[in-house]
Amino acid sequence: MGRKLHVELQENSYDIFIEKGILSLLGEKIKSIYNGGKIFVITDRNVNKHYGDKLKDSLEKAGFVTKFMVLEPGEETKSFNTLPRIYNELLDFKITRKDLILTFGGGVIGDLGGFAASSFLRGVPFIQVPTSILAQVDSSVGGKVAVDLERGKNLVGSFYQPKAVYIDSEVLNTLSDKFYRDGMAEVIKYGCIKDREFFYKLKSLKNRAQVMDNIEDIIYNCCLIKKTIVEIDEKDLGERMLLNFGHTLGHAVEKYYNFTGYSHGEAVAIGMYNITLKSENEGLTKKGVAEEIKDILINYGLPYEVEIGNNESIVDTIAIDKKNMGKILKIILIKDIGKSIIYDTTPEFFKAVK
Ligand SMILES: NC(=O)c1ccc[n+]([C@@H]2O[C@H](COP(=O)([O-])OP(=O)(O)OC[C@H]3O[C@@H](n4cnc5c(N)ncnc54)[C@H](O)[C@@H]3O)[C@@H](O)[C@H]2O)c1
Repeated sequence: MGRKLHVELQENSYDIFIEKGILSLLGEKIKSIYNGGKIFVITDRNVNKHYGDKLKDSLEKAGFVTKFMVLEPGEETKSFNTLPRIYNELLDFKITRKDLILTFGGGVIGDLGGFAASSFLRGVPFIQVPTSILAQVDSSVGGKVAVDLERGKNLVGSFYQPKAVYIDSEVLNTLSDKFYRDGMAEVIKYGCIKDREFFYKLKSLKNRAQVMDNIEDIIYNCCLIKKTIVEIDEKDLGERMLLNFGHTLGHAVEKYYNFTGYSHGEAVAIGMYNITLKSENEGLTKKGVAEEIKDILINYGLPYEVEIGNNESIVDTIAIDKKNMGKILKIILIKDIGKSIIYDTTPEFFKAVK
């Protein structure tokens, strides 16, 4: 049986449905929240190859007329420049504000398709059907949608909540190991910031097969933590910043290597370990916590160290990071596993980080 979480955001409230095999039932499920006839699906080539027919069958059997737009996989697709092509297809398909857009893919498709939905005709309803771990535990929930500019990631975006999120963990079987590990870095992050028991549960799982045996619980728990945070702070002005644990440093590491050295998840892993090592040395974190994080990262095949010759450039990168408003830099530290805080400091804090 599937599970359901309700995200309470007044008129923007919606449900998250987590159910193995839900993909083939999607047409019927959507009928309960949408009484129009047309659905515009945005997906990428990898996801479409594996599951496009299944989704199409399910939607058409339920009586919907569909159009699929299949984009190239990868972050390059999440470009501002992809938007006009999407808007053109939406116009060709005569999408109105009474119709529905469905994003079917990882975080790239969810963010891009969600932003297209938020901006086309001042907002067309959309639903998220996330297919990567990262998208199922993080990006599909909470309504942050965005595209990239040449000068940086996620620089154009909005807060635009979906009408529903449908999560089928079965599709994760075709996810590459690289993206599996990437997503698990974010899963581990939830344990670090909010849930000690969950952290040790994750630590006890020995390999991908064991993780997959528990995947429904894992997805549910991550979505529960994220939705609870989003309900308190939808617009990312306080509590929601806790989700950035490991990200300030991680983002600087990604940038230092020109986004080609480390994947996002790997960079976050490096960020979580190194910021904790630093805060432990500053007496802000219980001794031994960094070592615990290092152990779990090793378990999941994630890196924790990085060679950065010139540490100044990391500090500079952090200083111009968009999250650095004014002189004060808000970073996320954990005092212990499961206990995170927002800590006001300056980019200089990172000086001694190796
Ligand atoms: N909106 C948010 O709150 C939020 C939060 C975190 C990250 N993000 C964004 O998410 C993006 C990264 O998401 P991602 O890691 O899912 O990347 P992605 O969308 O590029 O997906 C990763 C890869 O896996 C493939 N794939 C996806 N599902 C698959 C499946 N079931 N089987 C086989 N292959 C599959 C994709 O084609 C792609 O090649 C970034 O752009 C990031 O900025 C957004």
